[in-house]
Amino acid sequence: MPLKAELHCHIEGAAAPELVIRQAQKYGKDTSPYIQDGSFVWHDFTSFLAAYDFSSDLFRTEEDYARLADHYLTSLARDGAIYSEIFTSPDHAGNAGLSAKAYTDALGEGMARAKAKTGIEGRMIVTGVRNAGVESIEQAARFAARCGHPLVTGFGVAGDERMGDLEDYVRAFEIAREAGLGITVHAGELMGWESVEAALDHIRPARIGHGVRAIENPDLVRRIADEGVVLECCPSSNIALKVFDSFADHPFPALQAAGCKVTLNSDDPPYFWTSLKREYDIAAEHFSMNDKALAAVTRTAVEAAFVDRKTKAMLLGRLDVKGR
Ligand code: ADE
Ligand code: ZN
Repeated sequence: MPLKAELHCHIEGAAAPELVIRQAQKYGKDTSPYIQDGSFVWHDFTSFLAAYDFSSDLFRTEEDYARLADHYLTSLARDGAIYSEIFTSPDHAGNAGLSAKAYTDALGEGMARAKAKTGIEGRMIVTGVRNAGVESIEQAARFAARCGHPLVTGFGVAGDERMGDLEDYVRAFEIAREAGLGITVHAGELMGWESVEAALDHIRPARIGHGVRAIENPDLVRRIADEGVVLECCPSSNIALKVFDSFADHPFPALQAAGCKVTLNSDDPPYFWTSLKREYDIAAEHFSMNDKALAAVTRTAVEAAFVDRKTKAMLLGRLDVKGR
């Protein structure tokens, strides 16, 4: 199996049910509406977000967040990943009374612990959440722009795509862009190709979270290929959330064949009964990708990573050594 790299994972969404249960015991909460038989329970995007918000609320202290990041990056590294970008969400920490800075420093500490054990390199993409409103998204952008944390290298917007309009977030993205942060935005997951076009027109991102429903418009697919915009594809997430009926219907192979830069990601792994390793296994099984093709996907991810040139060269060097 080739080395792996991940660009799209929401750190609160990476907390395994066992860890969430432990946190619930610590804070005296009942997990039974959201976790049953060791598995998260939800049935559509709205109830997925409810379970996600419930679990996120159980991470409250700096040590809770440090442990979460450490657990996730360590598990990724054990599955052969050399690089991980996590979406962070200062809004969630704010609800627990933790400042954006304390939250970010804590996640950075967890990433440092994982790196010390395994060598995995990590970066953070601060995200605004659509369902929290425009002001909260701009606040997240201002924080990302001025926090100065060396591992914060990107800004993005996630959350319920059915809420708000991408044009509403232009100012937030401009704040982030001016600060030199990499730009990614969720689009084309719950909403159709029009949302991907709006993202390209208004936000001008380097990468799009999902973006897979661009497949509904061949002209748009061509534009994504021509502009070299990277798609952060999350096949298991899309199947679990019923964006597509089955892996056989997933457009990953078609987008790649059309010349789009595609990457493999786990999104919120335990909610979708997946892991980054499983996404690579799925691509091998359902998209007929051999090790060479999977190694090329990892290379695309590293090339699209929001990291300084020296780190990128080091990561690409690791891929070259493994490939030989
Ligand atoms: N936040 C966490 N997971 C998400 C997803 N799949 N889409 C949009 N927002 C999210
Ligand atoms: Zn996502």
